[in-house]
Amino acid sequence: MRATPKKLVAVLATAGLLTLTAACGGDSGSGGGGGDSADVEVFTWWAEGSEKEGLDALVKVFEEQNPDFNFVNGAVAGGAGSDAKNVLASRLQTNDPPATFQAHAGAELTDYIEQGQIEGLSDMYEEKGWNELFPEGLLERLQQDGEIYSVPSNIHRANVVWANPAVLKDAGLDPEATYDTLDDWIAALKKVDAAGKIPLSVATDWTQVHLLETVLLADLGPEGYSGLWDGSTDWSGPEVSDALDDYATLMDLTNTDRQSLDWPDATQLVIDGDAAFNVMGDWAEAAFASQDKTLGTDYMAFPVPGTDGVFDFLADSFTMPVNGPNPDGTEAWLDTVASAEGQEAFNKAKGSIPANLEAKTDDFGDYQQTAIESWQNDEIVSSLAHGAAASVSWLTDVTAAVAKFGSDGDVASLQEGLSAAAEKNQS
Ligand code: GAL
Repeated sequence: MRATPKKLVAVLATAGLLTLTAACGGDSGSGGGGGDSADVEVFTWWAEGSEKEGLDALVKVFEEQNPDFNFVNGAVAGGAGSDAKNVLASRLQTNDPPATFQAHAGAELTDYIEQGQIEGLSDMYEEKGWNELFPEGLLERLQQDGEIYSVPSNIHRANVVWANPAVLKDAGLDPEATYDTLDDWIAALKKVDAAGKIPLSVATDWTQVHLLETVLLADLGPEGYSGLWDGSTDWSGPEVSDALDDYATLMDLTNTDRQSLDWPDATQLVIDGDAAFNVMGDWAEAAFASQDKTLGTDYMAFPVPGTDGVFDFLADSFTMPVNGPNPDGTEAWLDTVASAEGQEAFNKAKGSIPANLEAKTDDFGDYQQTAIESWQNDEIVSSLAHGAAASVSWLTDVTAAVAKFGSDGDVASLQEGLSAAAEKNQS
């Protein structure tokens, strides 16, 4: 599907904009993106640290498989795409798409589809035999009206607690302990507080949304949590009020400098022994691994209390933007993303597990083996903070309510904000 008629029509339709881009300094020979025709600009938010190491591993395979193409790193820093998504939105609006961009499977991807910003890839899937390569449930989240729109690179689990056993021991806690309920866990957090360490590390707004989603999952259960996204759970009901009370209690036990940190800093507080616990997706595994930490000795990992048996899911995927600067280069990137070799290299370094069913995982780390098992056996729900459950605009409104709570601590007003966000965005 290198130059489909649909694509040509789209190019003609935006010819005025293309002229404008060229006049503003873009490369007129290569559409909106500019650059050499061998260049393949890959837009992600994997700009630094262990996330960049994951991307680098994928790029290495890309370069081996495609010596004629030139990877161009279009990464914009900021965990969970907190800055990248805005930059991307304005590039797409001004017809300056990269060759490909990272997007989450699920509701977030639907946003790009509905705005006509990404090409359908079903023909490519058919041609390359990719329909058999990925789990059916995942493919469903990459499509709309029967058309598939992106290629998944990985599967991440969001509901994981990372812990420092030495800090727990010093606080008089059993480092091996896991906790059945949030209440049990909160009791342990209070002991860490009394011992003078940060009980639970958290960072800027999006990581607070991430924490909140796991608390909602713990208290409402998988069915109640999933009902938040389809309207069957009432955001203004008493169950959500109770969950928000738990969230408020947890936030009281977090570090006060949270607004100036991103996820790697919050996880680092656990790695360095300044904090006991951190709730983060399993990209945190890559941070521990890249600092040569050993699971069970240097750090512990377990499902957020109250969510054992549930896999809070998200997947990154890569797209073919409409009017992209280099469709052949995009296709080459998608080939690498889909390949077993690409997925093995990338996921091993990223802390995630492969989406490609043929990828080998025998030499993946101990944590990742637990994620593989959970993905196969547990109940799967969609992550809010990482685009699986709700649209970008809904997540933006939730984030605003959570950020406001971070400064005023008003639970009732948080619940009102979340209810209003649901009312406004639920389709
Ligand atoms: C998620 C993304 C992960 C990881 C994380 C932290 O949204 O899916 O791959 O990068 O953000 O930045």
